[in-house]
Amino acid sequence: MKAYDVAVIGAGPGGYVAAIRCAQLGLRTVCIDDREKGGKPAPGGTCLNVGCIPSKALLESSENYEKARLEFSSHGILIREMAVDLAKMQARKSSIVDAHTNGISFLFRKNRVESILGRARLKAIGEHCVVEVALGDRTERLEAKHVIIATGSSPRKLEGAIFGSRIVDSSGALAFEEIPEKLGIIGAGVIGLELGSVWRRLGSEVTLLEASPEFLSLADEKISKEALRQFGKEPGWTINLGMKVLSVNEMGKSVKVIYEHSGGTAEKDFDRLIVAAGRIPNSKDIADDDLGLNIDDRGFIEVDRHCRTNLPNVYAIGDVVQGAMLAHKASEEGVMVAELIDGQKPEIDPHLMPWVIYTSPEIAWVGKTERQLKSEGIEYRAGQFPFSANGRAQALGDARGFVKMLADANTDRVLGVHIIGPFASELISEAVVAMAFSASSEDIARTIHAHPSLCEALHEASLAVEGRALHI
Ligand code: FAD
Ligand code: NAI
Repeated sequence: MKAYDVAVIGAGPGGYVAAIRCAQLGLRTVCIDDREKGGKPAPGGTCLNVGCIPSKALLESSENYEKARLEFSSHGILIREMAVDLAKMQARKSSIVDAHTNGISFLFRKNRVESILGRARLKAIGEHCVVEVALGDRTERLEAKHVIIATGSSPRKLEGAIFGSRIVDSSGALAFEEIPEKLGIIGAGVIGLELGSVWRRLGSEVTLLEASPEFLSLADEKISKEALRQFGKEPGWTINLGMKVLSVNEMGKSVKVIYEHSGGTAEKDFDRLIVAAGRIPNSKDIADDDLGLNIDDRGFIEVDRHCRTNLPNVYAIGDVVQGAMLAHKASEEGVMVAELIDGQKPEIDPHLMPWVIYTSPEIAWVGKTERQLKSEGIEYRAGQFPFSANGRAQALGDARGFVKMLADANTDRVLGVHIIGPFASELISEAVVAMAFSASSEDIARTIHAHPSLCEALHEASLAVEGRALHI
């Protein structure tokens, strides 16, 4: 049996980053993943193959199309004929994904991480854990002193909605070969909004069917209100909140959804239906039952704050454990576990996890919302600044939204930053770094920000905490 210091199960952003960091630290490392393309390993997990990267590629293409169609004329750029070549758009997306999967394979070789294609299962624990890897009808066993489970998550299925060519999950929705005329989406969460944006911009009439009466309940209330207002202005969106899906039926060339709404029953027919109702952790069959790996009733592997499971030398990271289902969360946990195995004392602050929703306008936040601060009885001051008063945003032609900063009323320490507006995904990093260094709003207010830049809106929001914003 081949022996390693570390066996990583799963090569998503959690697993492949953990494996590289282990190898950097001189640990003999193997990374096992069951995802393949054309008989070759396709490392990168959900994020790279059917998640973050392909969705952002299509978001970019579709946003360019919408800008060219609706906004270029205001710049004095006239385009007489325009059309979407969806096959080319999809090919561009695939080539970006392929370049990155090849990139990870290169990084594995460079760092001497052994990569095995197959499905892994933990068979024995102790000083020498045993992992069995199955590929087709072949199995092999390997031994490792430490095991990191990074098996990720899969789309939640909805009773009665059988995935096929018309009813799809997020992976299917990234691969449409035609632009649906009428697109239904169950779930107005992150995936529903991002993938809905792609197809709406390309011409679909998109209906979001959301069970919760609240829109984007994870975000700060003011941000979700503004998002709903902005999306409401865009042609092509219908957002139904507080509804209950009663049945989903594929009928020839359409999908009929019957749902309860405002006390009555309604029905709608769609060409395609995306089910985006959350994701569930891939924890089933990951270890032999007699090993006693603790899994909670939602399927998450139970871990402590250092991602240690109840089994000695066995760790779990990423989507398969509690916390945000985000690629950067998975990667940081991977680095932390590698360094723990190496005998270091790393820590992650889960309160400093940035969230980004890549809609237009973009939405991003870090730290506490006003609602959380109120429920925790923390006194705070809020400062807000609109992009409409920011020169760079005006020059960009996108001055929607605002930056909102929340700071402790007594110490002035920044507790949360919430952004809706252009390049919120990039701007949020300044807030994360500031908060990681325990900055006060005054610290940010006294920091020089380049002019003209979007980050001046963050600067002004910090000034607004003390009621001294300059440009409003
Ligand atoms: P995964 O990426 O799911 O990787 C797990 C890997 O393990 C998979 O390849 C799986 O096939 C493999 N595996 C599972 N079981 C076994 C086994 N027994 N043996 C061998 N291999 C196994 N997050 C962001 O932060 N930003 C975004 O913009 C973003 N966009 C997204 C868009 C979409 C459409 C989706 C679906 C998700 C998006 N996410 C985004 C979420 C992000 O993809 C996940 O949080 C991230 O991939 C989790 O990483 P992971 O390593 O835990 O698991
Ligand atoms: P989600 O949890 O964000 O949203 C699911 C939505 O579906 C919720 O609003 C929920 O109320 C609703 N819902 C659940 N069951 C329903 C039903 N039967 N009928 C109607 N509505 C129902 O999950 P989503 O969008 O599937 O994404 C999964 C995860 O993937 C996200 O939580 C996020 O962690 C990650 N992701 C991150 C992205 C990013 O960082 N930009 C992009 C895409 C996904």
